Amino acid sequence: MELTNYPVAPIGSSMTHTKAYSAVAATSPLAPATISRRNPGPHDVQIQILFCGVCHTDLHIARNEWGGTTYPCVPGHEIVGRVINAGSHVKNFKEGDIVGVGCMVDSCRTCENCQDGFEQFCDKGAIFTYNAPDKHLGGMTYGGYSDSVVVDEAFVLRMPANLDLAASAPLLCAGITTYSPLRHHKVGKGQKVGIVGLGGLGHMGVKLAHAFGAHVVVFTTSPGKVEDALRLGADEVVVSTNTDEMKKHGSSFHFILDTVAASHDINAYFALLKRDGNLTQVGVPAEPLPVQVFSLLHNRRSFSGSLIGGIRETQEMLDFCGEHGITSDIELIPIQKINEAYERLLKNDVKYRFVIDMASLK
Ligand SMILES: NC(=O)c1ccc[n+]([C@@H]2O[C@H](COP(=O)([O-])OP(=O)(O)OC[C@H]3O[C@@H](n4cnc5c(N)ncnc54)[C@H](OP(=O)(O)O)[C@@H]3O)[C@@H](O)[C@H]2O)c1
Ligand SMILES: [Zn+2]
Ligand SMILES: [Zn+2]
Repeated sequence: MELTNYPVAPIGSSMTHTKAYSAVAATSPLAPATISRRNPGPHDVQIQILFCGVCHTDLHIARNEWGGTTYPCVPGHEIVGRVINAGSHVKNFKEGDIVGVGCMVDSCRTCENCQDGFEQFCDKGAIFTYNAPDKHLGGMTYGGYSDSVVVDEAFVLRMPANLDLAASAPLLCAGITTYSPLRHHKVGKGQKVGIVGLGGLGHMGVKLAHAFGAHVVVFTTSPGKVEDALRLGADEVVVSTNTDEMKKHGSSFHFILDTVAASHDINAYFALLKRDGNLTQVGVPAEPLPVQVFSLLHNRRSFSGSLIGGIRETQEMLDFCGEHGITSDIELIPIQKINEAYERLLKNDVKYRFVIDMASLK
């Protein structure tokens, strides 16, 4: 297969080349490419990527659905791999360790948010794993749809030894993005919790909310997912297109996590919150969602957002998943099937996370 031309590292420079899949424009499919990675500095680890999950964010950004994508774009922020090289000052990792990299690879580390463990809200802007300014090489960061990556050890996670490696890759975005708001809102025993959308994020939300002891209700637009939702840990399933079924749950939820990636009627979910109930939005439709203020006034309801989670909390989530044997339900694909996987995401045809077997890139 022909490789797309990339700026290549001059001989003797501090860069090496690695294979990747990239989009060169919003309308072009992902295709093989060669990219540059920095050689590891004293605090860096170089990771051979074994598996990379496919998040709906990858699709939004590859196709510039939110604006702001710089091309070429190499998506991928659910990375599991093996350390193949560790810089001289690296303390926590050594060659051969199995590690993870999620949505961030750096931040300022000195602002209040960074100091408090919320690097995702860094005042100077977190450096996301792809499509963020790369201070080392210039240009933009490139994500996990590639052979290898070099990351400062402060942004590298330890993977639980007992979990299947491919199935634990999605914990690094889908896992933490659902764990963090569920924890923040103290979801647990005695609470009725809704998860809207049974895709990558949603199915992790179900598993985690169930593990925290909540009564979990899944809202899906896909009647074919009802059985799976129950198997994944839901106590009840509502097909959200059925308004009578929706009404039965009026004013009864403590907390609802909305993972939907497309436009939908958010007000129908506000109506399901009991007094002081909260709906947290983690799905990011490209278009603004219309909010009926009246549906928030009753029951003093609140509407919030949540963005992934900090490094400390991501490690806490991984350790929790290790202890409770929680992984993602995945469909392993060779990287050559990535464009097909994107089309299937758009049809809600994912059970429940695509993970790329990076050996296919060889
Ligand atoms: N906030 C964050 O930090 C963060 C992190 C990661 C991802 N995200 C965002 O979260 C969203 C979900 O990501 P994902 O990877 O979980 O996506 P996904 O696997 O494609 O799942 C999304 C699910 O939403 C439901 N859905 C899709 N279109 C719908 C529609 N028109 N009306 C109602 N429901 C619909 C479907 O579930 P059913 O078939 O069950 O209806 C679908 O499976 C994306 O927008 C992504 O960018 C946010
Ligand atoms: Zn993601
Ligand atoms: Zn900061």
